[in-house]
Amino acid sequence: TKTCRNYTIPLTVASNNLIFGLPKFLTEFDVADWVDVITNRNPAIAGSLICGAENVTAKCSISATFCQPAKGEITRTRRLCWWLPMVLAYWDPPALDKSKYSFVEHAISQGYSVFYYDRLGVGESSLVSGYVSQLSNRISILTQLTKLVKQGLYVGDLGKPDKVVLLGHNFGSSAVFEAVSADIGLADGVVLTGFSVNKTYLNGIDTGEALGVRIAALQSPKKWAKLDSGYLTSVDVYSNVAIFFKAPDYDPAIAGYSEATKQPASVMEFLTSQAIGANPPLKYKGVAMIISSKFDFPWCTGDCDAILENPGAEYFRGTKAFKAVSYPGAGHGLNLHLNAKGSFEEITDFLSANGL
Ligand SMILES: *[C@@H]1O[C@H](CO)[C@@H](O)[C@H](O)[C@H]1NC(C)=O
Ligand SMILES: *[C@@H]1O[C@H](CO)[C@@H](O)[C@H](O)[C@H]1NC(C)=O
Ligand SMILES: *[C@@H]1O[C@H](CO)[C@@H](O)[C@H](O)[C@H]1NC(C)=O
Repeated sequence: TKTCRNYTIPLTVASNNLIFGLPKFLTEFDVADWVDVITNRNPAIAGSLICGAENVTAKCSISATFCQPAKGEITRTRRLCWWLPMVLAYWDPPALDKSKYSFVEHAISQGYSVFYYDRLGVGESSLVSGYVSQLSNRISILTQLTKLVKQGLYVGDLGKPDKVVLLGHNFGSSAVFEAVSADIGLADGVVLTGFSVNKTYLNGIDTGEALGVRIAALQSPKKWAKLDSGYLTSVDVYSNVAIFFKAPDYDPAIAGYSEATKQPASVMEFLTSQAIGANPPLKYKGVAMIISSKFDFPWCTGDCDAILENPGAEYFRGTKAFKAVSYPGAGHGLNLHLNAKGSFEEITDFLSANGL
């Protein structure tokens, strides 16, 4: 049903990076202490984790895949952007039933083309220190890749797409949100999944605690020896489930698959993931959707009802169309729940109803 091509895309990334304020972790005891520090209610203590910022320019390469429907007219290109613990497994899980769990497959079936990529430090994309990989450099990567795709590069023989939608999950949504705040003409549409702008209920901090974070390279040297100690991961499948899944709306075998194919997150991702800098309303004028699982823990402290639009609607007041969906029967890892397909339909129905 689709034809795909893989790319390795060289980029020069200039960003203003926050500097990690503690010594680099040597042992799991250091990580345990870091969890104590980030969860401290005293902002002066939690604030000690960052000691300034620096402008950095670095070269990197990003591995990307572009897929388009094998037949029929192609008029649309959608971009996907990365989230925390999984790689290709999240948008297009190789070993799962694609008719249920693959957003890419669904989008292709609706006539969209899809460009998606591995985040920095994951898969074939460049390896950088976990003390460096953070929101600022991700925004730069996303913005540059979007501009390249809009020029018709890295999209097979598609040519210049006439419409571009940016789709992210979790950290990827933060990057999309900040990218269109800063560059208002970057996209025609944005879809922010596993995300919220209601700061009252953001809970990235306790997420680190619930995940029982461990140093990835120590947990599985076979998989992650190349990563420095700034890359962290969930302690086991149950802590993964505590954050990403909601009973009874998932298949435990899928949770096991998620744990087996998970990818670590950098310590600076944890610290910058929910750093929403822009104030409402954004100047961005395209179409916008926030769709998060009703039971999302990191962004809604377990209940997204009535908070995604407050103040989401205020941020997106100037847009052509805005919709907030608290999607029932799922936890933070929306795409891995039994009803994932319904959320894919919500997304493409909303886009096509608004000319995308
Ligand atoms: C792209 O890379 C993936 C992962 O390495 C591989 O499974 C797939 O076959 C490649 N696709 C093409 C079209 O080369
Ligand atoms: C760092 O970059 C920002 C813009 O991103 C600029 O305003 C600032 O002056 C730069 N700082 C230094 C020390 O170059
Ligand atoms: C979050 O949503 C609740 C419920 O709608 C609202 O009372 C609260 O003011 C919102 N928080 C922010 C920071 O807007």
